[in-house]
Amino acid sequence: RTLDDAKDLAGKTALVRVDFNVPMEDGKVTDDTRLRVALPTIQRLRDAGAKVALLAHFDRPKGQRVPSMSLKPVVLPLEELLGAPVRFADDCIGPDAVDAIRDLDAGGVVLLENVRFHAAEEANDPVFAQKLADLGDFYVNDAFSAAHRAHASTEGIAHHLPAYAGESMRRELDALDAALGNPQKPVIGIVGGAKVSTKLDLLKNLVGQLDRLAIGGGMANTFLFAQGVDIGGSLAERDMADTAREIMAEAEARGCKLLLPVDFVVATEVKPGAASRPVVAGADLSADDKILDAGPATVARLLEALTASKTLIWNGPLGVFEVPPFDAATVAVARHAAALAKAGVLVAVGGGGDTVSALNHAGVSDDMTFVSTAGGAFLEWMEGKPLPGVEALQA
Ligand code: 3PG
Repeated sequence: RTLDDAKDLAGKTALVRVDFNVPMEDGKVTDDTRLRVALPTIQRLRDAGAKVALLAHFDRPKGQRVPSMSLKPVVLPLEELLGAPVRFADDCIGPDAVDAIRDLDAGGVVLLENVRFHAAEEANDPVFAQKLADLGDFYVNDAFSAAHRAHASTEGIAHHLPAYAGESMRRELDALDAALGNPQKPVIGIVGGAKVSTKLDLLKNLVGQLDRLAIGGGMANTFLFAQGVDIGGSLAERDMADTAREIMAEAEARGCKLLLPVDFVVATEVKPGAASRPVVAGADLSADDKILDAGPATVARLLEALTASKTLIWNGPLGVFEVPPFDAATVAVARHAAALAKAGVLVAVGGGGDTVSALNHAGVSDDMTFVSTAGGAFLEWMEGKPLPGVEALQA
């Protein structure tokens, strides 16, 4: 159920779960992406004459009222983005919250203090969920990036009130469906990042669904090592070699073509502008050599594979993109994917942790079909796990 299904909202109170778990330094928001993501839902509800009470968590206070984890610093940047005043309530339940909501005019907005100041939030305590629900007339979940948590404000509350997906939740689910649920084929996945061990479930799920899967970043070294390729002193999980071989066998059995690097960029130190050289996979490396990026032949193969695909799902960079020149492969592949997406010939969806920074670094986030701001939720979705916050909206 989406906001299209929510009728006669004037004068009603919407409890809107947003994800304002934003980067903050010295009490100042340093990246307002997640605030911007919440604007369409807030604005739509305001336009419909509803009162808007925002529920959110910040950081992990573990049920304690930790002053440095207050959501108060979010008020000012949110007011600026919204062009309207935002009240703040010192608690998300009880008299502070009740009074702040009562005093709102139609279309008014209040941000309630960090729901995780109550241990009952993460415990998904039904009594706490009911107390949250008592504050409003209906519930809107616009926090896809927190939907992998079965907490009171993301899951429990949906059982106590009419519940709807907000605008950005809906966009996110539509994009994910286009990428993996019901994609145009052939589908290619790019999975990078440092470790195989953190992405095991994800790789196992993807090889069963994709036509091609490109593996990059530090985790590719583990696969290369498992194939007997000399990786010198590169980062790798050598004890995961058997697991890597199992994934390769599974990919073969399921008809998913694995694309591992056929060459790479090697250096002895990870620092900007460090002397580096391209090396073909299989050549001898010294113990000081570290593989820090995919090489030009690998990039050419990836560009070709992207051109031959209709859908891309991307998680994780191909090299140490934060330290140029080891960003070259990630940037080249990102630019090609974005150009195809812009031309309307590739549905290109990316997300999860470093991926957003990598796509921003390549300057292509706006041209991708969709870039998810979710971290853990995006990964769990790629692992094929049900997301409690989404399931609760479907119940
Ligand atoms: C995130 O930042 O990924 C979400 O807000 C979830 O935060 P959490 O990992 O602390 O639950």
